[in-house]
Amino acid sequence: MNSLRLAALSLSVLLLGFGARPVPAAPLPTPTELAATLKEEQVTVVEPHLSKAGKPVRRSYRGYPARALLDQLLGKGWLSADTEIEFRALDGYVSRVPTQRFARYKAWLVFARADGGPFEVDNLAQQEKAVPLGPFYLVWDNVGHPELIKEGGSVWPYQVAQLRLTPSSRTALLPPGLVGDFKAQAALAQQYCLSCHQINGYGGDKMPLNLAERARLLDAPSWRQWLISPQSLRPGTAMPALPDSLPLAERERITRQLHEYLRALPLKP
Ligand code: HEC
Repeated sequence: MNSLRLAALSLSVLLLGFGARPVPAAPLPTPTELAATLKEEQVTVVEPHLSKAGKPVRRSYRGYPARALLDQLLGKGWLSADTEIEFRALDGYVSRVPTQRFARYKAWLVFARADGGPFEVDNLAQQEKAVPLGPFYLVWDNVGHPELIKEGGSVWPYQVAQLRLTPSSRTALLPPGLVGDFKAQAALAQQYCLSCHQINGYGGDKMPLNLAERARLLDAPSWRQWLISPQSLRPGTAMPALPDSLPLAERERITRQLHEYLRALPLKP
């Protein structure tokens, strides 16, 4: 059995094991292994890590269409499920993408630059230079869907080495004990924070502090400063500010909404 089929098999076994404990993520096949069954495409995107508000920078990459690749790894039917796909990076960054997003927008898992240049990017928001993107980098069709440009790079995980299908985040982010309608706030936390941080054990490993706890410890002004201008608190910090592609008033609103939501969340030990 080739390693691709093996990966697909172990993923479907993992899927059956849903519910109890988190399942380990399965490693992605290499680009060369994938070439046996998938057709490579060239794709041009507005590179969110290099672009600034009003100054889009385009880049072209070589990669595989995400849906075809996921069909192969997860088996048909993954797209209709109420699940998320968790992309795990070499550096502990975890990005969870609701499967439904792949039905709305075209995405690719890219593995090289089309012009043969180094497969790396400067991450302006995190002040990191020449960050390697391989083995895989998830990119979205924000040329065909310009509304994606203002999201920044939050659902563009790079150094993706593993992926798995996980149940939807609703139980962790909107638990039964939470009083009030916080659906929009939970989505904001998911989109902007949980690739690095956690809420009661759910989220990423890059900086696994519990935001529900941290929001209780920080008053509104310091909370705001961390989200809008972390540099002013800790120069050189890897904590990215909310993207300046959003108007300041909207960033202020997100800041307040997240603080309120996280403090309302029941705290799990
Ligand atoms: C790319 C990863 C990443 C993302 C995304 C991210 N953070 Fe952070 N955050 C960090 C890192 C790393 C630190 C530690 C900063 C330091 O000490 O220099 C941090 C620190 C913080 C702190 C300060 C903790 C303390 O008291 O020391 C808060 C509060 C915080 N983040 C909240 C958030 C919120 C809310 C979001 C979403 C709007 C978010 N972060 C998104 C990486 C991230």
